Amino acid sequence: MNMALFDRLSTVQADLLVAFVPSEGALSESAAWIDENTQGQISQLRETSVFKAGVGQTLLLPGVSQDFAQAVLLVGIGKDAALSDMQARKVIAAVAAQIKGLPFASVAIASGEVELKGRSPSDALALVAQWVNEGFYNFLGFKKDDAEKATKVTTIQLQGTDEAALAIGTATAKGSAFARQLGNLPGNVCTPSYLASKAQQLGEDYSIEVELLDETKMDELGMHCLLSVGRGSAQPSYLIVMHYRGGNEGEAPHVLLGKGITFDTGGISLKPGPKMDEMKYDMCGAASVFGTMKAICELKPNVNFTAVIAAAENMPSSRATKPGDIVKTMSGQTVEILNTDAEGRLVLCDALTYIERFKPKSVVDIATLTGACVVALGSVNSGMYANNDDLAAELKTASQTSADKIWQMPLDEEYQQQLDSNFADIGNIGGPEAGSVTAACFLSRFTGSYSWAHLDIAGTAWTGGAAKGASGRPVALLTRYLLNK
Ligand code: BES
Ligand code: MN
Ligand code: ZN
Repeated sequence: MNMALFDRLSTVQADLLVAFVPSEGALSESAAWIDENTQGQISQLRETSVFKAGVGQTLLLPGVSQDFAQAVLLVGIGKDAALSDMQARKVIAAVAAQIKGLPFASVAIASGEVELKGRSPSDALALVAQWVNEGFYNFLGFKKDDAEKATKVTTIQLQGTDEAALAIGTATAKGSAFARQLGNLPGNVCTPSYLASKAQQLGEDYSIEVELLDETKMDELGMHCLLSVGRGSAQPSYLIVMHYRGGNEGEAPHVLLGKGITFDTGGISLKPGPKMDEMKYDMCGAASVFGTMKAICELKPNVNFTAVIAAAENMPSSRATKPGDIVKTMSGQTVEILNTDAEGRLVLCDALTYIERFKPKSVVDIATLTGACVVALGSVNSGMYANNDDLAAELKTASQTSADKIWQMPLDEEYQQQLDSNFADIGNIGGPEAGSVTAACFLSRFTGSYSWAHLDIAGTAWTGGAAKGASGRPVALLTRYLLNK
């Protein structure tokens, strides 16, 4: 999709104009123009309640004027002068859903007429650009009618002047589409080696350095805890490292670490059958790191950023790790694996130790770590944990700007004792209480010397039900966080 900006409505050229209509009061500039060209149709539509202009309601009007558009799409924005993030998202999603199926190549969206509560025009522009593009995402490649889903739209013009904001929104959407695609791919395609090949491809496409640590190399490094997770699988595990070097040479990087369990059966502690297919999404942390890497490579900011993916498949088999097995981590601490379904922390802990070698400025791990986080926060907020208040504040700021919500959760030392084990230095589960917190506590034992935060995205990385699909979160948050550096 080509993205461009226009400033004044009167100068724009497009096949389709998207105009925003408030449900009450004065018309917007675009709606007033249409009203004039149609003998007051918009006013009539509102008065007769044929088109009430409620938030996200749409109506297509062909042949309004040949001046600069063959057709106009009316989109309701309701009665409030400024929209909440939720309302604006709904409005923009409606715009994308409508225009992607229409036979027009160029579309101008009078997006200057959509004001977002508490946001500057530039920040609003970045979000609108992101959301419009996200609305064009389709999961392709596995159905026979895929070709029919291709959109005719090639260019979208948004209203505004800030090219940098447009670029941020567009790149974020590219990153989030990449993350969604990886997430939606089935477990028999998206294996740890597939993720490794995607890293190599990013390396070639954007000239970034990629290192792949295979099982032999990880064994030499003593990453037995990570390796214990993939032991039951025919698919080899990988630690994938990508270096984006846009900052000063030799300057310590910011590290993002993603949980890349390409399928989580639970292992010997087998999960129940219903909805187990959704455990193909257990690599969405990894996918969000890939997506952020893509967005950053597109935007080329002046920052050093290292992406690390801990990739494995969690399967039961005669070779698989069993409950009660004790493994030694790269850090030297031993872990009693009481439940093989608490595997995310087992791959992440060795990756957290490995990352020490980069002397990172900060480390943020992203993981679909616990069902307990879904119980606590649902699908609205990702859970955020941090051992450093400045880092927590930076993430909250980035979250606010990107409308990608997080909620800080506690890491009090009192929770740590839930991980005590009779037989090893630490157990891998903390009992039924505060499951998301004890998972974060487990990780915190491996973050010795650096500022660290953990995002539990178990509730936010995908939606289930009829609209099942990966969300692309938290690519927007992570991209903003790195851009703010
Ligand atoms: N990948 C799951 C967490 C998960 C479950 C995410 C459901 C999204 C939806 C993770 O590996 C897991 O199985 N966690 C266990 C931990 C427990 C055994 C301590 C859980 O949450 O049940
Ligand atoms: Mn699990
Ligand atoms: Zn898992």
